[in-house]
Amino acid sequence: MLTADNITIKVQTAPHSRVSEIDFDNLSFGKMFSDHMFMADFKNNHWGDAQILPYGPLPMSPSTSALHYGQSIFEGMKAYKNDKGEVLLFRPLENHKRINISAERMAMPSIPQELFMEGLRQLVKLDKDWVPSTEGASLYVRPFLIGTDEFIGVRPSDSYRFYIITSPGGRYYNEPVKVLVEPNFIRAVEGGVGFVKASGNYGRSLFPTRLAQQRGYHQIMWTDARNHRYLEESGTMNLMFVIDDVLITPPLGDTILAGITRDSVLTLARDWKMKVQERKISIDEIIDAHKRKTLDEAFGTGTAATIAHISQIGFEGKDYILPDVPSRIFSNRVADELDNIRKGRVPDIHNWMYKIV
Ligand code: COI
Repeated sequence: MLTADNITIKVQTAPHSRVSEIDFDNLSFGKMFSDHMFMADFKNNHWGDAQILPYGPLPMSPSTSALHYGQSIFEGMKAYKNDKGEVLLFRPLENHKRINISAERMAMPSIPQELFMEGLRQLVKLDKDWVPSTEGASLYVRPFLIGTDEFIGVRPSDSYRFYIITSPGGRYYNEPVKVLVEPNFIRAVEGGVGFVKASGNYGRSLFPTRLAQQRGYHQIMWTDARNHRYLEESGTMNLMFVIDDVLITPPLGDTILAGITRDSVLTLARDWKMKVQERKISIDEIIDAHKRKTLDEAFGTGTAATIAHISQIGFEGKDYILPDVPSRIFSNRVADELDNIRKGRVPDIHNWMYKIV
């Protein structure tokens, strides 16, 4: 485990805050950024120079290795303001564990827990006025790590920079999503990097997604690389189905991101004694359940999207329409419960909320 001897964070505050420019009642996702950002450098096998400074452009050489070979990983989490006005992060320690899983796979250094958490804590505290209290809104927190060697030979960078930026945002999807089962392109292969939050995973999805969007869908439903039969993820989300009162989700493995919202939903379902199956699920099984009228719910889970109801599944030229959203018992209940936990309206029995201030 790499350590950072000195977690003292140098703070340079912005000369004036831009928060008054934000219309908190009309937030879209990912467009506005708060006053400050955090950064720390990894050099000579050591983390240091932790600082908070005004949000702004990154000076960078054109030969910076991350720009060429994609040594670039990220995380996403959200800070909420609860009904008492306190600011809390949802399960940030899980993001810390996951960024280090990504770092290992991408031959990057791990980030010490105290550096990750202290950077987060001080940044979110300083920009606490940017945390929305409006329903469905939050401060999206984006930690990311990039290789910074000025070198265009192909090898892991020796130097890295870790940043955290934050962005007040509303819902990722404003309506239930229409998804298209992808029969050709692939998101991830066994032995690959589908289970990590590598920037390239998202870049590679853009072209196939654009083709699906040109056909009127919001997102792709990714299938396995071997047969294009087993469902894996949808867009940037994990996938879940309720068939015959059983909650079914594809199992974690090389090709599927271990979503923190995925884990939270499964935990709540098990708390409620619902039958849960983490197993492979094919498009044939979904179509069959749809025909038998036992496909009650389909939804995506993710930090940005939280719970995104799926209204329609396109497959081999046919669209399968799912039950109306208000009739979906489990996904509505779990979405409400997650909101209630975040807002402090029900007991946080799993200690998911991490208080900042
Ligand atoms: C998240 O849900 O945090 C994601 O990674 C989605 C993001 C790419 C917008």
